[in-house]
Amino acid sequence: MARVLQWSHSKTVVLLWFLTAIIFYSLFQMALRNSISNSTSSVSMALNEDRRSKLYDGMARDLDEKGPAFLKHGETSQSLSLSDIFILKDGAVEPALKAANPPVRANVLYLSTEYSVPISETIKRIINPYFDKSIWFQNTSLYHFSMFHASHHIAPVPATENEIETEATAVKDVAKTLCSLNIVLDRVVLTSTGVLLGCWQVVSGTDPVTIRTKLRTALPRAPEKQLYDAAILHTSFARLLGPPKASATEMHNADLVKFFHELVAHLNKELRGFKAAISELWYVEEYDVLALALNGRMNVRKFQLGCTRN
Ligand SMILES: *[C@@H]1O[C@H](CO)[C@@H](O)[C@H](O)[C@H]1NC(C)=O
Repeated sequence: MARVLQWSHSKTVVLLWFLTAIIFYSLFQMALRNSISNSTSSVSMALNEDRRSKLYDGMARDLDEKGPAFLKHGETSQSLSLSDIFILKDGAVEPALKAANPPVRANVLYLSTEYSVPISETIKRIINPYFDKSIWFQNTSLYHFSMFHASHHIAPVPATENEIETEATAVKDVAKTLCSLNIVLDRVVLTSTGVLLGCWQVVSGTDPVTIRTKLRTALPRAPEKQLYDAAILHTSFARLLGPPKASATEMHNADLVKFFHELVAHLNKELRGFKAAISELWYVEEYDVLALALNGRMNVRKFQLGCTRN
């Protein structure tokens, strides 16, 4: 009897050891897999960040390489001439709205007024003393990051009302899978076309590269060629439409490039490092050309990003 008990005791011990070993082994495997997938995502995060930095460096060089072309006949980033989209009326600039045919269908991330208002106030405080009225400021209710176009003016993709509903639903489903983004303003850039841009980096959340990939899958009819680099995260703050006041450039012997460099340096000194969060993706039908930029006619569908784990 004692012998039998002893036997079964050692069997129990062996069994326990065996179970413990299995549990340890699976925990070890899980930890390994986790750390691999974590390091893969941090590697791709670093790659995207690097890609954005290089892109922004290039954008900042644009003014040196081409000079302030907007003082002649500037074109926008969408190859529309600025003189085509603004008119001077009683000394003030007004957008010259033109119907977009077919309407442009843009997917943009939205930046809330909690962030856009202080940014815009800072920019106005710094810039306004140097210019009369030849500046157009982006409406603070419409600060946005252009992500992906279902149709744009270079490659229009007409759509029926049903097709538009299908697209909007697909975008809503994408939004559910995206994690809200924490972002930081990397630099302010003035392009040779006179557009003052905020160029941002991602601290956490779904990277724009992933967002665009998901939108492409969800919108199979969208133009193959999109307007922007897949990694870019930028928002337009203002458009300069003419030269600064003569008094502003006296210090630089009327060297305009030098003047603009110092202006941008001043903006960067105050705005670089500004933190913001993004939690909405918009599907926008723009009935006027550049409606989001120029307060044109549009229809906006707003979708909350579904995941807030950060
Ligand atoms: C700014 O945009 C908001 C939202 O579309 C609009 O209600 C408002 O009228 C716009 N402001 C101007 C000055 O156009």
